[in-house]
Amino acid sequence: MGTNPLKLKRIHHVEFWVGNARQSAYYYRKAFGFSQAAYAGLETGLRDRTSYVLTQNKVNFMLTTPMTPDGPITEHIAKHGDGVKDIAFEVFDCDVAFAAAIERGAKPVEEPHDWSDQHGTMRRAAIHTYGDTIHSILSYKDYNGPFLPGFAAAPIPEQDLGILRIDHMVGNVGLGEMEKWANFYADVLGFHRYITFDDKDISTEYSALMSIVMSDDSYSVKFPINEPAAGKRKSQIQEYLEWYGGPGVQHVALQCKDEIETVGKLTANGIDFLRVPDTYYEVLRDRVGEIDESIDAIKKLGILVDRDHEGYLLQIFSKPVEDRPTLFFEIIQRKGCKGFGKGNFKALFESIEMEQERRGNL
Ligand code: FE2
Repeated sequence: MGTNPLKLKRIHHVEFWVGNARQSAYYYRKAFGFSQAAYAGLETGLRDRTSYVLTQNKVNFMLTTPMTPDGPITEHIAKHGDGVKDIAFEVFDCDVAFAAAIERGAKPVEEPHDWSDQHGTMRRAAIHTYGDTIHSILSYKDYNGPFLPGFAAAPIPEQDLGILRIDHMVGNVGLGEMEKWANFYADVLGFHRYITFDDKDISTEYSALMSIVMSDDSYSVKFPINEPAAGKRKSQIQEYLEWYGGPGVQHVALQCKDEIETVGKLTANGIDFLRVPDTYYEVLRDRVGEIDESIDAIKKLGILVDRDHEGYLLQIFSKPVEDRPTLFFEIIQRKGCKGFGKGNFKALFESIEMEQERRGNL
């Protein structure tokens, strides 16, 4: 522990490559409460793609769609459907970070270069991670425009739903590849193994997975890596890998300040969440002890609770937000607990298996 070789500051933004960015932007604005901040497309001189930037407190999403019948974005969407392309980091110095990443074993996507417009200059580079996913590496020189070079301010304010920041982002990788990608985050980014779940923690009758949570020293950037484990039937991770066409981001966990308020609003806005059986709530008080929230209120919304020695957390998982059973969202509130809801895995995975069964994928 104790290293930050790339001098990572934060997750700058998450870029999704999608089939129709205009409609995706509307969905994340109206359903999730993101405000639009910036735009790049034909009107700003960009001809091969269009991007919308959405923000809510510390979360920045970029939604990008291709404007041509071929090219990398079109090919990516044909293969994967809509999904996360880039988990972009802000670092103190792009050139120093990129050189360190390559020296520590990362594979380059883009060499460091200036990225400029009338608002100034940034430095930009990128490295590969699992599947076709990348990490851009960005640093500011004198840029002080609306979001990133090439973007025009395009504000559309929406009602904030209390989503504060990205808590963690989970990658699904192939069978036998979890160690390799956990080591990638240890070797290249200096992350440490924070928690490991094996197939005894995370298995139900049918499906199983294994997971290693990699974290930076400040616990502000956490990347669990999952791989499928053998069960009687198909792992939920294997289902993802088949429909995404390889490794990729499985879920983005968004931390909120009031789980009941945020999940209530998301539900009212039409977001579908996984439900566990009502019996989950009958034993909840015995399992987690006293909590501030009313059991009735969390049961009504389907919110899950788990506790460790430092406190408890409230969490809920959406169904996939595309037609392919791939990317979904978690909404999490932490009240001291630094875990990931291990106590909920069994109930949750039984619920996921019921969904897989309905999709003919179990
Ligand atoms: Fe999670």
